Amino acid sequence: MSFNPANNIQDLQYFGEFGGVNPSITDSSTYTFLSAKTMFDTFEGNADSCYLYSRHSTPSNLYLGKALAAMEGTETANVSASGMGAITQVLLQLCKAGDQIVSSRTIYGGTYAFLKHFIPKFNIETAFVDITNLDAVEAAINKNTKVLYCESVSNPLLEVANIAGLSHLAENHDLKLVVDNTFSPLNITPALLGADVVIHSLTKFINGSSDTVGGVVCGTQDFINELRSVNDGASMLLGSTMDSLRAASILKNLRTLHIRIKKHSYNAQYLAEKFEADGLKIVYPGLTSHSSHEMLKSIFNKTYGFGGMLTIDVGNLELANKLMELMQERNLGYLAVSLGFYKTLFSAPGSSTSSEIPEEEQVEMGLNDGLIRFSIGLDDDIERTYQMMKACMVELNILENKEDLAYV
Ligand SMILES: Cc1ncc(COP(=O)(O)O)c(C=O)c1O
Repeated sequence: MSFNPANNIQDLQYFGEFGGVNPSITDSSTYTFLSAKTMFDTFEGNADSCYLYSRHSTPSNLYLGKALAAMEGTETANVSASGMGAITQVLLQLCKAGDQIVSSRTIYGGTYAFLKHFIPKFNIETAFVDITNLDAVEAAINKNTKVLYCESVSNPLLEVANIAGLSHLAENHDLKLVVDNTFSPLNITPALLGADVVIHSLTKFINGSSDTVGGVVCGTQDFINELRSVNDGASMLLGSTMDSLRAASILKNLRTLHIRIKKHSYNAQYLAEKFEADGLKIVYPGLTSHSSHEMLKSIFNKTYGFGGMLTIDVGNLELANKLMELMQERNLGYLAVSLGFYKTLFSAPGSSTSSEIPEEEQVEMGLNDGLIRFSIGLDDDIERTYQMMKACMVELNILENKEDLAYV
């Protein structure tokens, strides 16, 4: 039977403490022990089902972690206060002074800044590579390399990583393959393709209501135990802990993720095809013109489409800004960073979410300042949205007015 991440979430059964259909939210930072011996055993990691302190774990956080592990097909998962909280704990757990990371050069700006500017303070260096070129990735690996790092679908250029190929390299060189799957939950299941650790910013599609930040690390029980170790665990000691109230609310939103992702993907595919036909410079993994389209087709969970993210390059930042302001004025979405909301969100990554990347490196990787990143919303009538967006583009001479525009 093939893997279906949404079935795995649907099939979880929780009984609340008082018989509620939702598990009771746990509201304590500390927990009592009936015997001092059990407390000692818990600190030693030898007592199952005992909670000691909420920075370590909470019942509500474990419920959410269990659902996310089911979705990603991993043994278990550890939720954290933000996506960056998940990324930083994983890399600091896997690397020590003198080690090297080989990372995709197109990644979220915050991750890039952490690798480029923060982690070198601990004498951990990063080689940034074109992740779609496996030869370049292999050439960057040296005797100090410990981790291969990438995003399944990259922020903001929407490059698609060949996770199976990278996993092969990781295996051959005894490295850990860490994949940030934030842009493609349900669409891609990195662990099935060989990723050792799968990370999400829950802030985005998974929570889907832009009301909190959150993160998760999905992996083996051994690795998650290491992260939670009271002696040297990066989760336990750096303290990026999710609050139980938030874990409970994210778990509720997770249950509708499959419906939302299908609609995000449907709407993004529709707009991408239309705007490509209109002659716009558009990148969307669901278009045959995308360089990794065929590879992605061979690895994705096709029921969920090609995701809700697309980019349009309008040529320069001034025009990009004008278009975003006009689209916001016409109530087509918000000029805002982040993704996965019910309304379309748009921003120019060169001057926002990727501004940590120096300009010359942005040019080298093809991140032009006229590039707009769209997180396409859940609009019920996407044809109406298309007509309204097109009207904005015609007004700014980004597109010619070739047809009657019904909704102008
Ligand atoms: C791909 C990706 N990973 C990680 C993050 C960081 O997540 P958070 O903002 O929840 O810390 C982001 C945020 O934009 C992102 O886009």
